[in-house]
Amino acid sequence: MCIQSLNMPKIMAATNLVWTVFLSFLLSASLAVSVAPKRPVDVPFSRNYMPTWAFDHINYINGGSEIQLKLDKYTGTGFQSKGSYLFGHFSMHIKMVPGDSAGTVTAFYLSSQNSEHDEIDFEFLGNRTGQPYILQTNVFTGGKGDREQRIYLWFDPTKAYHRYSVLWNMHQIVFFVDNVPIRVFKNSKDLGVRYPFNQPMKVYNSLWNADDWATRGGLEKTDWSKAPFLASYKGFHIDGCEASVQAKFCATQGKRWWDQKQFRDLDPQQYRRLQWVRNKYTIYNYCTDRVRFPTIPPECKRDRDI
Ligand SMILES: *[C@@H]1O[C@H](CO)[C@@H](O)[C@H](O)[C@H]1NC(C)=O
Repeated sequence: MCIQSLNMPKIMAATNLVWTVFLSFLLSASLAVSVAPKRPVDVPFSRNYMPTWAFDHINYINGGSEIQLKLDKYTGTGFQSKGSYLFGHFSMHIKMVPGDSAGTVTAFYLSSQNSEHDEIDFEFLGNRTGQPYILQTNVFTGGKGDREQRIYLWFDPTKAYHRYSVLWNMHQIVFFVDNVPIRVFKNSKDLGVRYPFNQPMKVYNSLWNADDWATRGGLEKTDWSKAPFLASYKGFHIDGCEASVQAKFCATQGKRWWDQKQFRDLDPQQYRRLQWVRNKYTIYNYCTDRVRFPTIPPECKRDRDI
């Protein structure tokens, strides 16, 4: 009796513990269903970025909370992040060149700086007035790219700002357009595919002339009588683990929000939306190009691209 009553609080504590564990399991299970990346915070250009080249072709608006890149027949221009990053969430609001943008390319990408480089690309290929832009994405790992995908967008990207973002962690790279995942590149290291994990990347944006290939494979040339071509940017959100260019790991690796379980894979709803993009808007996917790749690239199955 005496022993029993002494044990009671312990038993109750143990029962409470079981409940707490069970409830937090339920909670994390339900949290795992909603996995849009943490909401970006808009900051001025100069907080995270600086011009890369042709400084006089960048217009600053509203005290630098918004900028425009200008392309004319003399030059394009671009800007880059001040920091280098290993993993994180990188987001940009962009309004593409309006009207006749044929021959121009607007890019938003992450890239490491060494020879066997890693790169995560958004490239927006301009078009004649009223004709649709193409969004091309690519992933380079250890210097190897050849992973192009091309889609049409479900809106006119020249009419308003839209948000383009990259979520990059140890498990996956996700390309988002306005929170819709349009592409996923999972870590397929176990299948022999290199994955970007130890080379810090900078974020780059640029606008340039690429009329040798961009529009209808180079058939449509840039009409310089329509210059200057202007692309607008705002947001400038970067939430990444900042590292020196030589760093091989991130000091807070595993501890940031993007490392958590719910960001290691897309949830069922996100896979459905990705499927919607693939069914309705995909123009080209390297994963299904049996002429170029008689053997299916190993990551394609894991990325559910085939
Ligand atoms: C431009 O418009 C043409 C005609 O609609 C289309 O075939 C092409 O895919 C569009 N985009 C680019 C970048 O060529």
